[in-house]
Amino acid sequence: MWVAILTIFSSIVLFFVWILWTEVFGAGWSPTPMESVKAMLRLADVNPDDILYDLGAGDGRIVTTAVKDFGAKAIGYEIDPIRFLMSWFRIIFSGALGKATVRYKNFYNANLREATVVTLFLRQHTNEKLREKLEEELAPGSRVVTYYWTFDKWKPVKVDHRFEVYLYVIGISNYQSSSNFFPPR
Ligand SMILES: C[S@@+](CC[C@H](N)C(=O)[O-])C[C@H]1O[C@@H](n2cnc3c(N)ncnc32)[C@H](O)[C@@H]1O
Repeated sequence: MWVAILTIFSSIVLFFVWILWTEVFGAGWSPTPMESVKAMLRLADVNPDDILYDLGAGDGRIVTTAVKDFGAKAIGYEIDPIRFLMSWFRIIFSGALGKATVRYKNFYNANLREATVVTLFLRQHTNEKLREKLEEELAPGSRVVTYYWTFDKWKPVKVDHRFEVYLYVIGISNYQSSSNFFPPR
């Protein structure tokens, strides 16, 4: 009896540790609902010319949807080994192999320069920590689309309140916060 209770209790604790340990790196795991994933990609007008980066790829749902439903090339970064493996299962079984990839890496150390679209579902403070990196590395006109959390110093150019998604454009949304503001043509 006590063994069963202890097993159930420790399984629950382990489950929450697994979900939450990456909070120290930027965010714990909670997947974006699929309707909001699609709303994010629609709001950013993702298309076959895009290279999309998902920072904190989780189970790979954003990168695979960007490839399968919107025709983009997509790259994710994930720091949790099990979620990294889950993302690769999804890439392989969704048929997105070749156009979608997830790298096992801390996104703060990733080079974002080739991204035309960046997707984020992290935390408010993590978005703030990433803001300067995004301003420095993304070209004017690149889109940053967030689910649920926003940026304190940026103004969204479009919001879909129904799905809680926010679209920012580099060079427009960061007009007040960027020291090297360069308006897009
Ligand atoms: C809230 S989940 C979002 C997952 C996915 N993007 C989605 O929308 O379904 C955040 C993910 O970011 C990952 N993560 C947190 N900090 C990270 C970091 N510094 N580098 C890479 N991945 C990170 C977590 O492990 C978690 O899987």
